[in-house]
Amino acid sequence: MSEAAVVETGPAVEIVGLKKSFGPLEVLKGIDARVERGDVVCVIGPSGSGKSTLLRCVNLLEEPTAGRIVVNGTELTDPDVDIDAARTRIGMVFQGFNLFSHLNVLNNLMVAQRKVLKRDQKTAQEVALRNLERVGLGEKVNAMPAQLSGGQQQRVAIARALSMDPDVMLFDEPTSALDPELVGDVLGVMRQLADEGMTMLVVTHEMQFAREVADRVLFMDGGYVVEEGPAEQVISAPRHERTQSFLARVLDPTHQGPSA
Ligand SMILES: Nc1ncnc2c1ncn2[C@@H]1O[C@H](COP(=O)(O)OP(=O)(O)OP(=O)(O)O)[C@@H](O)[C@H]1O
Ligand SMILES: [Mg+2]
Repeated sequence: MSEAAVVETGPAVEIVGLKKSFGPLEVLKGIDARVERGDVVCVIGPSGSGKSTLLRCVNLLEEPTAGRIVVNGTELTDPDVDIDAARTRIGMVFQGFNLFSHLNVLNNLMVAQRKVLKRDQKTAQEVALRNLERVGLGEKVNAMPAQLSGGQQQRVAIARALSMDPDVMLFDEPTSALDPELVGDVLGVMRQLADEGMTMLVVTHEMQFAREVADRVLFMDGGYVVEEGPAEQVISAPRHERTQSFLARVLDPTHQGPSA
């Protein structure tokens, strides 16, 4: 059960007129996007287009320069909002493996449950074990992070985020630092979460995953959402020329598109 009151209607994530500048550099130039409850939205686009910045603005790791972010009815950009409380409802998994290297797997999964959610030892342990099983790593409960493969560490990071009972999971290229043979296990866990109805916003270069798992795809370029629509349509039949040339390059790296 969730500890916070949750609005049960409306989109899980709503982004309105989002802008973000770093000094003179305007990285997000007015983003409007939404993620419906239970949907998976994949964000694709070239390096530097602002995908990570967008994700980091959604849980206010970056402070937007303008615009509104609403997660499950709570406006995070409202200056009066309890941002720490709101942020516990948002799980985030990054490209790198951000486990605490001095803590074993179980304690990695328990520390924020204990400190932030104030769960007792027994409850936190039960939740941790349930989520480790969920990502197929129940037998690694006592392992140290350094004893795990990159793919296993990333699945532990996912289990840790799930242990906070998030309403929404944000993923920023969770497989791009992995050896190719480890990518499938992590994508498999993400696919399973999607099947379970988890709301997910995923930055990825895995076009097959996006096509098969995402409900909708956003293509970003130059700080704008250039194209947005059903996954199959955006990936297989993109309408915008910039989406077409980007996809031609990522689906066939030998292709020399107009901007290559
Ligand atoms: N903290 C920061 N300070 C200054 N500039 C930044 C900062 N974070 C990002 N940028 C700049 O913002 C732009 C967008 O970066 P961002 O990381 O969002 O792109 P991205 O689409 O995630 O790229 P990639 O696919 O390489 O991960 C880049 O030009 C980057 O250099
Ligand atoms: Mg990025």
